[in-house]
Parts: sequence; C-alpha cells; structure tokens
Amino acid sequence: MIVLGIETSCDESSVAIVDDNKNILANEIFSQIDLHKIYGGVVPELSARSHLEVIDKVILQALKTANISFEQIDGFSATCGPGLIGSVIVGMTCGKALSTIYQKPFLAINHLEGHLLTARLTNDLKFPYLALLVSGGHCQIIIAKSLGNYQKIGETIDDALGEAFDKVAQMLNLPYPGGPQIEKLAKMGDENKFKFPRPLIDAKNHDRLFDFSFSGLKTAVRRELEKIIGEEFNNKLVDEKISMQTKADISASFQKTVGDILINRLQNVLNFHEYFKNKNTSSINNLVIAGGVSANKYLIERLSNFANKSDLQLISPPLKLCTDNGAMIAWVGIEKLTNNLIDDLNFAPKARWNL
Ligand code: KG4
Ligand code: ZN
Repeated sequence: MIVLGIETSCDESSVAIVDDNKNILANEIFSQIDLHKIYGGVVPELSARSHLEVIDKVILQALKTANISFEQIDGFSATCGPGLIGSVIVGMTCGKALSTIYQKPFLAINHLEGHLLTARLTNDLKFPYLALLVSGGHCQIIIAKSLGNYQKIGETIDDALGEAFDKVAQMLNLPYPGGPQIEKLAKMGDENKFKFPRPLIDAKNHDRLFDFSFSGLKTAVRRELEKIIGEEFNNKLVDEKISMQTKADISASFQKTVGDILINRLQNVLNFHEYFKNKNTSSINNLVIAGGVSANKYLIERLSNFANKSDLQLISPPLKLCTDNGAMIAWVGIEKLTNNLIDDLNFAPKARWNL
C-alpha cells in the first residue's frame, strides 16, 4: 500500500510518499523560512500564496524521487488542520483533487496526529505509549492508546513551547525560527548564570500537575534583559548593550529551565496520574517526544536521562521528521487506510482541531 501525503499547515510545503512497510520513498520539503525571515515570524497570507505557487511542483518532485506514477498511489492524504487556514486549504484541496481524479481514497489528517505517530513510522513502536508533543503551536502530554484514541493529560495554559523559544530568540535579535538558534547559542553559554522561574511548579499549583505555562518564563527573560539594558525593553538596545556571551548565557539558562519544566511535568504524570497509578492498565514502556521542538538535542539528552531513570525508553524521530514534513501525513494516511478510515471529500478544513 502506498500513500501520498501533503503538508501545508504552516511554513513548509511538503509532499511525501510512504508505503506500509515504513519505507519513505520520497519526502520533499520546500521551506518558506526565507520568505518570512524578514518579518520575524510567519505571515499567513504570504504562506498560503507560496504554498499555492509551489505545491504542484513539490508533488511532481515527490513522484520523481519515488520513481512512481499517480496510478500507483493507493490513497491521498493531506493535513486538514490545525494550522493557518489559508495554507491548510491549499494542501487539502490538492489532496481532494488527486483523490477525485485517480479515484482513490482521501484521508483527512490532523497535523498533531502526524507528529504523534511519526515514531511508529521510524520505530517498531506499539500502542500504548506516553508522548510529549512540543511544536510551534502546541505543548501537550498525551497517552496514545490506539489509532484515533488519544488521551490528552496535560497542556500549556498559555504559550506553546516552540512559541516560547521563538519569542525569546526574537528578544535576543536571533533570526526566525528561533528554536534552533537558541539551541546553537546555548552551547557557548553558562546554563546556571540566570535563574528563571518555572511557572506552575514554583507556585506549587497542585490543580495543574501535568500542565505547562511558558508566558511567565518569557517575561522573566525580558526583565533580565531590561535589568542589563537599564531601561524598558527595546530590540535596538539589545544589540548595543547585550554581549554575545550574555545572549548565550540567557539561551542556555532558558533552555535548562525548559528542560527542568518538561521533566517535572513528566515525573508528575508518572507519580500521580491515574493511568500510571494503576499498574495493571499501564503497560507503557515508551516515551515519545514529537513536534518541532523535539529537534532539540539538549532536551532529547535530558529526556533520555529521565526516561532511563524511569524505566522508559525514549523515542525521538530523526531530525528531518521532527519539524513539519509530508512523511508524517502520509504515514497517518497509511494507518487510517489500513483500518479503512476513509474521509469524505466534503471534509471541512479546521484552523483548530483537537486530537
Ligand atoms: O512542528 P513544527 O515544525 O511546526 C508546528 O507544527 O508548529 O515546530 C516548529 C517549532 C518552532 O517554534 C521552532 O522554533 C521549534 O519548533 N524548533 C525548535 C528546534 N527546532 C525547531 N525549538 C527548539 N530547538 C530546536 N532545535
Ligand atoms: Zn508541526
């Protein structure tokens, strides 16, 4: 069985072809980073237009790379949300059109499910498993029980984790997207130089043992910068008054705090969540980290140590499959098609779509 998957929910136009033996026959990714860089973030209208301009070329390139024809494809899957609605519509419409022309099933894919199930494409991973989904738009802890059965047990109450990385990077005048920049700079920094708060944890908020909050952390970084600058925050003054070493120390301290927060929340889940208290029902041996932020080697290292101590195995997809890609969308297509979960051609795109 072969599925062609289309991903256009944010700033990557990506098309992949994947088979049910977990072979990625093609995974073409056309990044829009250069387009949005000068604005410091994704501009939705530009994103949708760019997807429209390139998507058919990316589809044809994927077929060429895989060396197969449209007729050999058994199903067409496309991200139908959550994401930038104009961008989602471009990829979704292509998927529906191809499905109509070639008379093959259409599979409407939830982008988050794509991230969540990537580890089943790259590893021999069985349900159930615990997953930390950290991307530009989300930060959630999930128990993946079976295909389509996902229990969300914790989430951010304000910013997503990728968003926090991007905002801190923006304050430091680092180019978009900020996550990889912070990680790079942090390598030269002292992670103990600045002590940043861990919202929800330091406040000992026992109603929210499994949730996240990053907004206060971002504000604390801004305050620290203001202390050094000596006046109200201003991007121009950052470059004048903040040395590269201080930027590195801030990046490292921020990243360390993020690591502490993630581990604290996961530890709480293992200690206090019903599912893990009941040893009979919890047959979970694997912890999956998924979504764009899972490309962060420092966090993977921290989570890997945590997992080892907790008798869990950490599974983190290869770098290229952490950030947005068509392979994860094609793979969920394979999983759905295998289970005959086909979607209607009038499936509506969704800017928001819970798992
Ligand atoms: O999953 P993704 O590609 O798109 C969404 O679904 O949102 O995630 C993008 C996010 C961005 O916020 C980006 O800064 C972050 O993932 N990211 C990273 C790293 N690589 C990407 N954050 C921290 N460290 C990284 N190495
Ligand atoms: Zn994503």
